[in-house]
Amino acid sequence: QMLPLADRYGRVATDLRVSLTDRCNLRCSYCMPPEGLEWMPSDDQLTDDEVVRLIGVAVQRLGVREVRFTGGEPLVRRGLVDIVGRVHAIDPSVELSVTTNGIGLARVAGSLAEAGLHRVNVSLDSVRDETFQEITRRDRLDDVVAGLAAAEAAGLGPIKVNAVLLRGVNDDQAGELLRWCLDRGYQLRFIEQMPLDAQHGWSREEMVTAEEIIAALERDVELTPAKEPRGSAPAELFLVDGGSATVGVIASVTRPFCGDCDRVRLTADGQVRNCLFAREESDLRGAMRAGATDEDLAQRWLVAMRGKLPGHGIDDPSFLQPDRPMSAIGG
Ligand code: GTP
Ligand code: 5AD
Ligand code: SF4
Repeated sequence: QMLPLADRYGRVATDLRVSLTDRCNLRCSYCMPPEGLEWMPSDDQLTDDEVVRLIGVAVQRLGVREVRFTGGEPLVRRGLVDIVGRVHAIDPSVELSVTTNGIGLARVAGSLAEAGLHRVNVSLDSVRDETFQEITRRDRLDDVVAGLAAAEAAGLGPIKVNAVLLRGVNDDQAGELLRWCLDRGYQLRFIEQMPLDAQHGWSREEMVTAEEIIAALERDVELTPAKEPRGSAPAELFLVDGGSATVGVIASVTRPFCGDCDRVRLTADGQVRNCLFAREESDLRGAMRAGATDEDLAQRWLVAMRGKLPGHGIDDPSFLQPDRPMSAIGG
């Protein structure tokens, strides 16, 4: 029998975001320091069997209908293709997707599609070599571009590209990035930077707002709000120059969409987080390793959802950044 992951505010989580590793092969300046972070000990990380088991509980007992694999960088997890295949086998009607920086995607896109993956979203903040390197501290733009093309060829579309604009770094490139994505048939979404960086360097003044993003785009194109209801999607979509192509803005900070949230997260070390900004986690790994049954795990998961707050509270004077950075939660 199915017990939906409902919270106290009438929201039901049907979209599970699973972080498969906190590691990454880039060092984006707004995410982590150049030297990287102290990575999760491997004993803490869920095994492939454990990940598949927990996703199975979510799908078979708790009504989860979409599973997104995140990181860190999910493609650095060795078992990714195998995990996708096994989750697909549990219930082929569940939509499976990956959010990746695109490095290595050229090599695995075909196997991922064969294993049952439906879609990929790729993070790309600039299509200029110098700027890409300035942001990510790595010279890998060509790998990302090749990864995108391979994903498209493998049928992992429609492909979405996620970009964060940084003041004085790439905020003059919004139009250029949009043109580049439109030329290739990718849907571009600009994300407002959130206070989730490991360095705790986020500031509201530095953040490029949705309003600024839209103003910057409107120097190059005409935007009209898309008519389709947005539902629980974080992106507001705009039609470009009255055509069929769209561009999105994910305004988590200035136009929060928490009231329509349908998400729940599982970290690479098996903790349920009911929100990106949650200050508490529920330890499913510990319970599982202590012998919990699937029913016990489902019960714990349901309890964890009751603590979900109505919103992220970034504007509250008492706001505190969560203890884990974005790279250890999954975007
Ligand atoms: P689709 O539109 O279904 O492809 O997925 P998505 O846009 O939700 O997924 P993606 O992983 O591409 O997420 C894009 C960005 O949205 C993330 O990097 C986050 O910045 C933001 N985001 C995702 N989930 C949440 C959330 O629960 N809360 C907030 N505030 N932002 C989120
Ligand atoms: N705020 C918003 N988006 C972020 N990302 C990483 N850190 C942040 C942040 N602090 C984005 C990445 C990628 C996605 C997984 O999350 O650029 O597109
Ligand atoms: Fe890696 Fe994503 Fe963080 Fe960039 S934002 S360093 S790609 S985890």
